[in-house]
Amino acid sequence: MNLSELNKVALAMVAPGRGILAADESSGTIKKRFDALGVESTADNRRDYREMLFRSADAMAKYISGVILYDETIRQTAKDGTPLVKLIEKAGALPGIKVDKGTKPLPFCPGEVVTEGLDGLRERLVEYRSLGAKFAKWRAVIDVGQQHGLPSYSCVSANAQALARYAALCQDEGIVPIVEPEVLMDGDHDIDRCAEVTQWVLKETFQALFFARVALEGIVLKPNMAVPGKKSQKRASVEEVADKTLRVLKACVPAAVPGIAFLSGGQSDEEATAHLDAINRSGALPWRVTFSYGRALQAAPQKAWSGKSENVAAAQRAFGHRAMMNGLAAQGQWKSDLERKAA
Ligand code: 13P
Repeated sequence: MNLSELNKVALAMVAPGRGILAADESSGTIKKRFDALGVESTADNRRDYREMLFRSADAMAKYISGVILYDETIRQTAKDGTPLVKLIEKAGALPGIKVDKGTKPLPFCPGEVVTEGLDGLRERLVEYRSLGAKFAKWRAVIDVGQQHGLPSYSCVSANAQALARYAALCQDEGIVPIVEPEVLMDGDHDIDRCAEVTQWVLKETFQALFFARVALEGIVLKPNMAVPGKKSQKRASVEEVADKTLRVLKACVPAAVPGIAFLSGGQSDEEATAHLDAINRSGALPWRVTFSYGRALQAAPQKAWSGKSENVAAAQRAFGHRAMMNGLAAQGQWKSDLERKAA
């Protein structure tokens, strides 16, 4: 393993004021997003949409450090024949690839899932590296489901083991692993329950990474924030989210980890930005803290685009705005649209 090379890539992924665009929706997920807009999910439409994002030159150059791609996308070319990977590199960002194969029900653990995709992973990593991928992503999914006593130890442990095997394989093949254990926002649990489960999941994950001999200097952690479940009656202020998220991260994430890049997980665009900003305002941190958002970066441009080529400029403006807001939040320098208008 060339750790100094892995560390260099990991640091570039969390460069100050920049973060990661998660554009790695599986064909099933992007179809759901397109259905909501009344756009047919064809390979060409998926390409046109993503090409529009990657050609947002200003946003990409200033605020986006890397892009997570899906298997189909890393092989696609732009309308003019340029590989999409080359567009991303030309824009100054690093191409990355989602390598997990999604979740499957975990036996004897009703309602819980384990992420699959370890079989043949080394060979796939070798191919993705030849296609330009500098980093990879694997997402584990943990459901809190308060009434049923979830998560089970079996679920937390099986997912941590899989994350660790994936991360070790990536590093052995010269690819930086994004380690993503996501505690879902689904449910009516409060913020403290989310924080408690997140702490457990992170402890198990870092223990599994240790036993798998993963070098922490060569990973990026992609966690959820501590937030109340979507159906919780008890809402939390921006300060409470920042405070409880940081308490958990400081208790679990060694300073050897170069960076933390949050997922948005169903937070609104502005919540995801405000929370990241508050976390970065709370004083010196042992790691760089930024975003690796899917929905919170793409919801606005998707809507503006709506499958029409005449909307490309408006969609790029919408993407540029969210990218800039999150870039500022990654430095603790964000102001809400209201504050910006008043200033
Ligand atoms: P969201 O920001 O939409 O949660 O997506 C991030 C991601 O990559 C999930 O794996």
